[in-house]
Amino acid sequence: VIKAFLFDLDGVIVDTAIFHYQAWRRMANELGFDISEEFNEQLKGVSRVESLEIILQHGGLTLPEERKAELAAQKNQWYLDLVSRMTPNDILPGVPAFFSQVRDAGIKTALGSVSKNARLILDRIGMSDAFGTVIDGNKITRGKPDPEVFLKGADELGVSPADCVVFEDAVAGIDAAKRADMIAVGIGSPDVLTQADIVVPSLEHLTVPQLLKSLDRTAG
Ligand code: BG6
Ligand code: MG
Repeated sequence: VIKAFLFDLDGVIVDTAIFHYQAWRRMANELGFDISEEFNEQLKGVSRVESLEIILQHGGLTLPEERKAELAAQKNQWYLDLVSRMTPNDILPGVPAFFSQVRDAGIKTALGSVSKNARLILDRIGMSDAFGTVIDGNKITRGKPDPEVFLKGADELGVSPADCVVFEDAVAGIDAAKRADMIAVGIGSPDVLTQADIVVPSLEHLTVPQLLKSLDRTAG
């Protein structure tokens, strides 16, 4: 029986995944190298500090901790500049309709994001009260693919992991969901999200009754 849906934020509810990429790319360019969109896939769902490490390694750079802290802060400033222009119009297509079906089905909801900016983004898009609980980067000690973020969400909702479905656009996020023993719905391409149980291009392409049927489960 499916009792709860756990949603990633960046790339599932809003298209901030592109903002993260733009900000990291700007930083890489200033350091003298570039990062491709394909390379960016491995950054999705990964924490700010870990993302920075992966990028610096890609560019062949070893920098002192102090400089790394500066770069992470600079990237976040650029990212926040992009976020500050967001409005409820930036909610991804299909999300509002899907959420009203979730409410109708009596399914609990949690946000499961590694981002420390998650609350701010929910405020900007008018979705602060849309989730039963919000687990963000400030509440966890390990980023995805560690299952902590989703296990905490399930725990706060009082639902066992086997009764949870996770919605994720990141390879690391799908891994985290599977490690948590949850059903994983990939939002994106099946060529990228190979470990997901189901993959759809966006929530626009999915209804709650359809999903429950394809999982051969009921809500309750
Ligand atoms: C995740 C994004 O949601 O949050 C990652 O997919 C990002 O790209 C991570 O690095 C941390 O975000 P923030 O906002 O705390 O830098
Ligand atoms: Mg994401």
